[in-house]
Amino acid sequence: MGSVTWGSGSAVPERRAPGAPPRGPPLLSPAPARPYGADMCGIVGYVGAQSAQDVVVAGLKRLEYRGYDSAGVAVLADGGLAAARKAGKLLNLEKELKDRPLPGGNTGIGHTRWATHGGPTDANAHPHLDNAGRVAVVHNGIIENFAGLREELAGRGHDLTSETDTEVVAHLLAEAYSSSGDPAEAMRQVCRQLEGAFTLVAVHADEPDVVVGARRNSPLVVGVGEGEMFLASDVAAFIAHTRDAIELGQDQVVELRRDGVTVTGFDGRPADVREYHVDWDASAAEKGGYASFMLKEIADQPKAVADTLLGRIDGSGALHLDEVRIPPSVLREVDKVVVVACGTAFHAGMIAKYAIEHWTRLPCETELASEFRYRDPILDQRTLVVAISQSGETMDTLMAVRHAREQGAKVLAICNTNGSTIPRESDAVLYTHAGPEVAVASTKAFLTQLVACYLVALYLGQVRGTKWGDEIRTVVRQLSEMSGAVERVLGTMEPVRELARSLASHDTVLFVGRHVGYPVAMEGALKLKELAYMHAEGFAAGELKHGPIALIDEGLPVVVIAPSPRGRSVLHDKIVSNIQEIRARGARTVVIAEEGDEEVVPYADHLIRIPATPTLLQPLVATVPLQVFACELATARGNEVDQPRNLAKSVTVE
Ligand code: F6R
Repeated sequence: MGSVTWGSGSAVPERRAPGAPPRGPPLLSPAPARPYGADMCGIVGYVGAQSAQDVVVAGLKRLEYRGYDSAGVAVLADGGLAAARKAGKLLNLEKELKDRPLPGGNTGIGHTRWATHGGPTDANAHPHLDNAGRVAVVHNGIIENFAGLREELAGRGHDLTSETDTEVVAHLLAEAYSSSGDPAEAMRQVCRQLEGAFTLVAVHADEPDVVVGARRNSPLVVGVGEGEMFLASDVAAFIAHTRDAIELGQDQVVELRRDGVTVTGFDGRPADVREYHVDWDASAAEKGGYASFMLKEIADQPKAVADTLLGRIDGSGALHLDEVRIPPSVLREVDKVVVVACGTAFHAGMIAKYAIEHWTRLPCETELASEFRYRDPILDQRTLVVAISQSGETMDTLMAVRHAREQGAKVLAICNTNGSTIPRESDAVLYTHAGPEVAVASTKAFLTQLVACYLVALYLGQVRGTKWGDEIRTVVRQLSEMSGAVERVLGTMEPVRELARSLASHDTVLFVGRHVGYPVAMEGALKLKELAYMHAEGFAAGELKHGPIALIDEGLPVVVIAPSPRGRSVLHDKIVSNIQEIRARGARTVVIAEEGDEEVVPYADHLIRIPATPTLLQPLVATVPLQVFACELATARGNEVDQPRNLAKSVTVE
């Protein structure tokens, strides 16, 4: 059951299910080697005139993409503090609150967790309280020195009942507040004692109109309303109430009251913050009539692609990437580009390599961010590192960025989340304009990452003079036609959905492609793994004969991404041979081919048509059927597509 506590004094009357044993005597169990932290989570705080429980739970709903292993809420009311926590999805917490509503109050905090250490149990769920039940805290991160702090607290008579690091913070805050009588000062004192990564939001029953927060690493944004204030990991949590936001910087503490916000550093000095207006509205973070966020985000892609080009091309067709604040003189000196990213963003980076090398003649490597710094890469002032991340929070990518900058390289981030950590720590950023991506599996962010990569490659070509103005204008025109091409693909997806349903009972699907079709194959396989929980692999078609072809068995579905027969027709000839090899071994071929490509027809058991595009731009259309395929197949298998098992949207651990 979820724990619901209600404290209005020093003792904490405990509510428990009928027949459940009372809580045992104070006990300090041995500290686990690693704390049961909450490394990747969504956190929300509210102070205002509305029901805090309602605002916080609605905010958590918008943040559930950040983790859905457990959820909890705490509310200040009638001089006390009440909390509820439940393992599992937010729905479980909502049921708990329906059965046992918390007392009405206007100040509260909440949390949704993705567990890394420590099972997703009620006990490990946030908020965590001090012994008196006067302080509640939610936390995103890992407190590395928690074991020592825990022992010290036990030595001072505190009764720590959970194995989480967060509980330590609740106790420390209670102590610090009892000596300072100031919630923000208490938070600063505690933050100065903590080591590791921690973004915290807390309330104290003695301060019914105050929420305090602290940021180190994971993001924390203030939402500024009329007579109400919000605090959250992501603006999506409060966008239904306000679009005015303040982004907190590293090592800052914020105190929220209904009518004001005070931000200081951990040292108490006033701090600089960035105020901004969110340029999308609540409907962008709603399903808008679609069965899932993923379906909606797939459908959003034509607009996302067009929006990412918006304002970046002038009337003459030349590129203006004003945000790229790396001076052209520095870009002209670059002698190597390294792209770092993870997962789907890595696949965008693989495609970027083809475009950058082709259009700029600069050597370009694309590297998994998680591997990058461990192999001692060769970087210097003449290296341009391009870091691609939808969330801007992926720890592997952030660490790669930090490593690159330490070596003197310039870092350009391609990111979808305004003000997130990776762009903040980079030399420049090119934002993708996908709008909020809520479904855990990335779709529209990927297409916009591709557009941004093409823009960066062309811009480098423009600045370095490796592309003539008219060549750039031609590609820019082709790029601006891609939104319509994606729209056309979306209009022809019924046979893909039918095919997906017919393959729902298969165990394995392989994907093959050549050139930019190879990363597309990998992306198709990744979507299928994460959504349908099937064995899926993407191969370079030429590699099949070097081993993987042994996997092919009678009836095995193999999806082939055929390059355009125009332009580099040698690639096309090769893939036609590859399809024949696969088919000769019994595979059931699903061929994604350009309209008018008749050569593949005899070898395709299923043919999926995409519009004709220039070779390098083909991934923008070829990926779309694979997204639809994975989404439909996963649905046919009874899986929940927005929240696939074991995953979270922002991976803020290495
Ligand atoms: C897959 C997916 C992940 C992310 C990866 C990087 O559908 O979404 O593979 O692409 O975790 O995330 P970002 O782009 O936020 O750095």
